Amino acid sequence: MEINPLLLFIHLPLSLILMLFASTLAAEQAGFSSVKTDTEALILFKKTIENDPKQVLSGWKLNKSPCTWYGVSCNLGRVTQLDLSQCNLVGNLSFSVFASLDMLTLLNLSSNSFTVNSTSLLQLPYGLKQLELSFSGLAGLVPENLFIKYPNLVYVDLSFNNLTGIIPENLLISSDKLEVLDLSFNNLTGSIANMKVQTCNSLLHLDMSGNHIIDSLPYSLSNCTNLKSLNFSYNLLTGDIPQSFGDLTSLQRLDLSHNHLTGWIPSELGNSCESLVELKLSYNNITGTIPISLSSCSWLQVIDFANNNLTGPFPDSILQNLGSLESLLLSNNKISGSFPASISSCKKLRVVDLSSNQFSGIIPADLCPGASSLEELRLPDNLITGQIPAELSLCSQLKTIDFSINYLNGTIPAEIGKLENLEQLIAWYNGLDGNIPKELGKCKNLRDLILNNNYLSGEIPVELFNCGNLEWISLTSNGLTGQIPSQFGLLSRLAVLQLANNSLNGEIPRELANCSSLVWLDLNSNRLTGEIPPRLGRQPGARALGGILSGNTLVFVRNVGNSCKGVGGLLEFAGIRPERLLQVPTLKSCDFTRMYSGAVLSLFTQYQTLEYLDLSYNELRGKIPDEFGDMIALQVLVLSHNHLSGEIPSSLGQLKNLGVFDASHNRLQGNIPDSFSNLSFLVQIDLSNNELTGRIPSRGQLSTLPASQYANNPGLCGVPLPECQTGNDQPATNPSEDGANDGSRASSSSWANSIVLGVLISVASVCILIVWAIAMRARRKEAEEVKMLNILQASHAATTWKIDKEKEPLSINVATFQRTLRKLKFSQLIEATNGFSAESLIGCGGFGEVFKATLKDGSSVANQEVNTVELPGGQGIHGRNGNFGEDQP
Ligand SMILES: *[C@@H]1O[C@H](CO)[C@@H](O)[C@H](O)[C@H]1NC(C)=O
Ligand SMILES: *[C@@H]1O[C@H](CO)[C@@H](O)[C@H](O)[C@H]1NC(C)=O
Ligand SMILES: *[C@@H]1O[C@H](CO)[C@@H](O)[C@H](O)[C@H]1NC(C)=O
Ligand SMILES: *[C@@H]1O[C@H](CO)[C@@H](O)[C@H](O)[C@H]1NC(C)=O
Ligand SMILES: *[C@@H]1O[C@H](CO)[C@@H](O)[C@H](O)[C@H]1NC(C)=O
Ligand SMILES: *[C@@H]1O[C@H](CO)[C@@H](O)[C@H](O)[C@H]1NC(C)=O
Ligand SMILES: *[C@@H]1O[C@H](CO)[C@@H](O)[C@H](O)[C@H]1NC(C)=O
Ligand SMILES: *[C@@H]1O[C@H](CO)[C@@H](O)[C@H](O)[C@H]1NC(C)=O
Ligand SMILES: *[C@@H]1O[C@H](CO)[C@@H](O)[C@H](O)[C@H]1NC(C)=O
Repeated sequence: MEINPLLLFIHLPLSLILMLFASTLAAEQAGFSSVKTDTEALILFKKTIENDPKQVLSGWKLNKSPCTWYGVSCNLGRVTQLDLSQCNLVGNLSFSVFASLDMLTLLNLSSNSFTVNSTSLLQLPYGLKQLELSFSGLAGLVPENLFIKYPNLVYVDLSFNNLTGIIPENLLISSDKLEVLDLSFNNLTGSIANMKVQTCNSLLHLDMSGNHIIDSLPYSLSNCTNLKSLNFSYNLLTGDIPQSFGDLTSLQRLDLSHNHLTGWIPSELGNSCESLVELKLSYNNITGTIPISLSSCSWLQVIDFANNNLTGPFPDSILQNLGSLESLLLSNNKISGSFPASISSCKKLRVVDLSSNQFSGIIPADLCPGASSLEELRLPDNLITGQIPAELSLCSQLKTIDFSINYLNGTIPAEIGKLENLEQLIAWYNGLDGNIPKELGKCKNLRDLILNNNYLSGEIPVELFNCGNLEWISLTSNGLTGQIPSQFGLLSRLAVLQLANNSLNGEIPRELANCSSLVWLDLNSNRLTGEIPPRLGRQPGARALGGILSGNTLVFVRNVGNSCKGVGGLLEFAGIRPERLLQVPTLKSCDFTRMYSGAVLSLFTQYQTLEYLDLSYNELRGKIPDEFGDMIALQVLVLSHNHLSGEIPSSLGQLKNLGVFDASHNRLQGNIPDSFSNLSFLVQIDLSNNELTGRIPSRGQLSTLPASQYANNPGLCGVPLPECQTGNDQPATNPSEDGANDGSRASSSSWANSIVLGVLISVASVCILIVWAIAMRARRKEAEEVKMLNILQASHAATTWKIDKEKEPLSINVATFQRTLRKLKFSQLIEATNGFSAESLIGCGGFGEVFKATLKDGSSVANQEVNTVELPGGQGIHGRNGNFGEDQP
């Protein structure tokens, strides 16, 4: 099979002919292995392919040299490389078909849908150097003698397959040339603690992440002194991080996150710091303090120690040498001590996340210009005191500031307005006072302004409405005065507006109806007067705006009992431990329950309406607008504790998604519209303390609710209240949807009166018909729109508030800490919590269950995060409902 070297000196055309001739001759003389056997092997392979959607093999024909075939590379007339990656080929494969390709050095079959048994790996050609089989459908055990049989292998990627069983202890023995081994995201189990390693000088990258490997980390790896990256993340490893990892002096990336490791971070790791770029130990049970030895890791770019049990003060001095640091992620630990002022030494630092720790002291004023690359500064749920330093405005790249749940006081410095890139200003639950600085209006990129539960006063500055990108404004539970500026109507991306529990007065500006993205409007507990604008909350023709509020973490809390006003609260909850809610004193007084949290994603349809409307505890007058019946996506409608009068519009019966309707403590009159019987998702209705009359519709949900929800309406009767006394008066009132007739006197009507009444009704009917005919025309167009909405909604409807299997009615009342939410749909919330399944429960206790949800943002990554979240709770799951199980896209 050797080529005669003389041939290389002959002219080119001749050489080709001669070469073919010579090699064929040579092969025939040798009796095997030639371009002919290569061709046969490849044709055999082609025959095992059942489906070739991209038609890549269609050119694999015998009349052409295989060296011209798709994916085939040759050297000196022999096939040396086969790259059929990303071809989506389907078929039952055995690697034995390739056995005769004895010059093959590279085989790349990644991203295909084969069915292939891993035992046939041992039938690959001997000379193979690079083997890439990720996403290829490989199943079975890892062959123990793989590297003994193939000593030339340099690069082996078997990731994202279905390799099962244990990783053989001797796998790496005599892998003298191996540089890269990737077994990540398979189904490997067992222990690697005793993995044998001899000379391991060549290994550079070892990745076993995403398996089910148990037991402790292999100490022997410390012999692989040239290792550059080591990834054991997403396994079930226990025990300590071996001190001997400090011997890996070439290590650049160490990822041990998402395991069950315990013990301390070995200070010996500082020895390998010459080269370390990434150190990820998040989501373990690592205890102790952060070793000072890390200060020598001057190349470190990423420190991720989040979600461990680290304690002690952060050794501030270590940052002084970490000039390359870009991310410092320490959230969810128990690190104490003062805020690490030395981050000002880290010129490249972009993300600082210290959420949910016990950092105390003040935010130093001199972070910048030192840390002038800073984009995210997240400190929620700590013990930080003092004021927000005006000098923070020198960190000109800042996009996210999150100081929620701390002890900050003083005013919000006007200088914050200099942060042109600022997107999120989140500082809820602090002691901030003074006005909302009008300079914030210069932050043109501001999306989230979340300052609820502070002591802010004064009026809402109109300058704010220069920030046309605002999506979420929460100023709930402050001391704001003045009117709600009509300029809110300029904010076309505003999705959540929460101004509850302030001292706002005046009327609800009808311009709010121009906020074409608004889904959440909470104005409860103010001093609002006048009538409710009829068009409020209906935004016909709203455009689908991409990405509004997506990717943020929220908690929705609903309360039970009457300890707090309002319906429910949505809180920006990134980085905050759920337990922390229970410790917030003003929240303790609210009897809240059921928190659902997750990253928000929302998909706006073209026809958007409010989904959540709470106007309770104001001084509103007049009627409930008939137009509310058009808010087809509305799920929560709370109008209680106002001075509303007139009848309940029967159009509300169109609100097919309505789950909560509270109009108690008003002066409503007339019947409960019969159309309410159609509201199949209604799980809470409260009409008590009104002047309603007539029979409670017996169809639908209404008669199944507790009598207390109808109390103090002297004229109301029927289940669940006592039966109506005069049963025969009902037929007279029922046909009239208006229900305005005073039915109780019908029995005393004379025969003559009945005739007069009959005539009147007939005349009235004719008039109504005429008017109706005219109105119909005008309304047809609108009806079509509504119909479309209905259809759109129907696809989500099955998951909407349908918690009626729970006996406990949904009583939502959030008072003091209403939190804003992005355009969250309850349907999405419910989908996202997997129908309140165990996986999304993140805690439970005296206050009820805590669910974590990730709303479909199209991102399955987010779903993964849900799966890896700690679930401290685990019992008492209510509301599980088979209807919700189908949220997998
Ligand atoms: C195999 O193909 C994939 C996709 O084309 C590519 O990313 C990968 O680097 C290839 N592997 C080798 C070893 O060449
Ligand atoms: C491939 O194997 C599966 C079972 O492993 C079998 O059901 C299928 O019929 C096989 N297909 C071919 C073409 O052999
Ligand atoms: C692979 O083949 C071996 C022997 O031929 C067999 O024992 C094993 O069950 C097969 N594995 C799979 C996953 O089909
Ligand atoms: C992986 O292999 C195991 C055992 O051979 C089998 O039970 C399982 O269904 C396979 N999973 C996939 C996704 O093929
Ligand atoms: C992993 O293996 C187990 C048992 O061998 C099997 O039940 C499971 O389906 C496999 N998982 C995947 C993702 O293949
Ligand atoms: C490291 O390699 C040496 C031989 O080079 C061997 O004697 C020793 O046992 C190995 N250490 C471990 C932990 O495997
Ligand atoms: C950490 O330890 C606690 C208590 O021992 C345990 O409940 C929890 O699951 C552990 N978490 C991880 C990520 O190992
Ligand atoms: C965290 O560490 C403390 C002591 O430092 C210990 O009491 C506690 O059990 C640890 N928690 C977990 C979850 O390991
Ligand atoms: C802020 O609180 C501290 C105590 O934590 C107090 O000493 C200081 O006077 C307060 N500052 C303002 C402006 O209220």
